[in-house]
Amino acid sequence: MHKIAVIKGDGIGIDVVNESLRLFDVIGKKFEIDFEFVEFPWGSTYYLKNNKMAPDNFLEILAKFDAIFLGAVGHPDIQDNITLNGLLLPIRRTFNQYVCQRPSTLFPNVKSPLSNKKPYDIDLVVIRENTEGEYSQVGGFTYQNTPSEVAIQTAVFTRKGCERIIKYAFELATKRNTKKHVTSITKSNALRYMTLWDRTFDDVSKMYPDISTNSLLIDAACMDFIRRPEEFDVVVASNLFGDILTDIGAMITGSLGLASSGNINPDKDHPSMFEPTHGSAPDIAGKGIANPMAQMLTGAMMLDHLGELEASQAIKKAVLNIIENGDTLTPDLGGTATTKSVTKAIIGNLN
Ligand code: NAD
Ligand code: IPM
Ligand code: MN
Repeated sequence: MHKIAVIKGDGIGIDVVNESLRLFDVIGKKFEIDFEFVEFPWGSTYYLKNNKMAPDNFLEILAKFDAIFLGAVGHPDIQDNITLNGLLLPIRRTFNQYVCQRPSTLFPNVKSPLSNKKPYDIDLVVIRENTEGEYSQVGGFTYQNTPSEVAIQTAVFTRKGCERIIKYAFELATKRNTKKHVTSITKSNALRYMTLWDRTFDDVSKMYPDISTNSLLIDAACMDFIRRPEEFDVVVASNLFGDILTDIGAMITGSLGLASSGNINPDKDHPSMFEPTHGSAPDIAGKGIANPMAQMLTGAMMLDHLGELEASQAIKKAVLNIIENGDTLTPDLGGTATTKSVTKAIIGNLN
């Protein structure tokens, strides 16, 4: 039995989670997996009624689950800082989900905006530090709303925090059947604190003599994600730099609508949270055309984490088959299909 907390959140998050739950229903029956999904109506609608994103004890409630399956959070009428710091970011930190794992693979029949890219030319994974760095909540405002206002927020890098995420990246590189390469991303020419990351990277890399490495500044890495993305294998980056790079990774492999993501606690002493890279997409919310594939592939990552490898493979294969077939694709992939018809096609392919 897997107990999974479901937070659909806002905008297209609601649609793509609804469709994924339909898929899980079929998967559960087909592979005889006993899921217990418990839905929590937290997010911006809850905020507009209660002036908070979730009840005060939401972290205690979530702590009892095996995993959290989340759509997206963000509403055009509420400051993002309120919505994200009221729900998403405390979950990542409190449950020590220090790995944010985001693969970018160019699948067959998906058009990259980069010219002359063939299927699987791009096949990289970004390992983003997810609990500290630039997202640390250290700082504040003084003389607020006056002409003398000062805003300070400090990045926090710890040796332990750098070491565990970099080690995770190297371990993944040893397992992946690709180039056995890890790229480290910093900006330590300008940001002195990042030399701690660089020194830690050097130390950890000595433990993995079979893995080749290089180090790039974030600006150069953004350039190379466009110029020569085929050279990347595993990329390890801080919280903010990993965030930025993974939107690029999603777009060069076709769409944010395909970009899966897991906020993982590798020690499994707290639940991990699975939410795609994309947000609530207000520009297409309510239109019924969001691509549910990112959320479903994120669901496959969750099944991997829960040890349901066969079921996870089945989801990935069905999604890939529908992409390759090309008849039922949402507008982000150049088609005219709806969210629901894509789900129907994927479920049909499973059976
Ligand atoms: P976004 O990812 O929501 O959308 C960016 C673009 O990609 C939009 O044009 C959107 O239509 C498209 N897109 C995204 N997902 C898609 C899908 N599944 N199918 C088809 N097209 C898709 O980013 P944004 O517009 O910068 O942010 C919107 C809101 O979401 C903001 O409030 C932001 O803070 C929030 N956000 C939340 C999360 C999260 O909850 N994990 C992640 C990113 C952004
Ligand atoms: C993501 C999002 C979040 C992040 C925002 C919404 C706080 O962009 O998951 O990529 O920056 O981590
Ligand atoms: Mn992001």
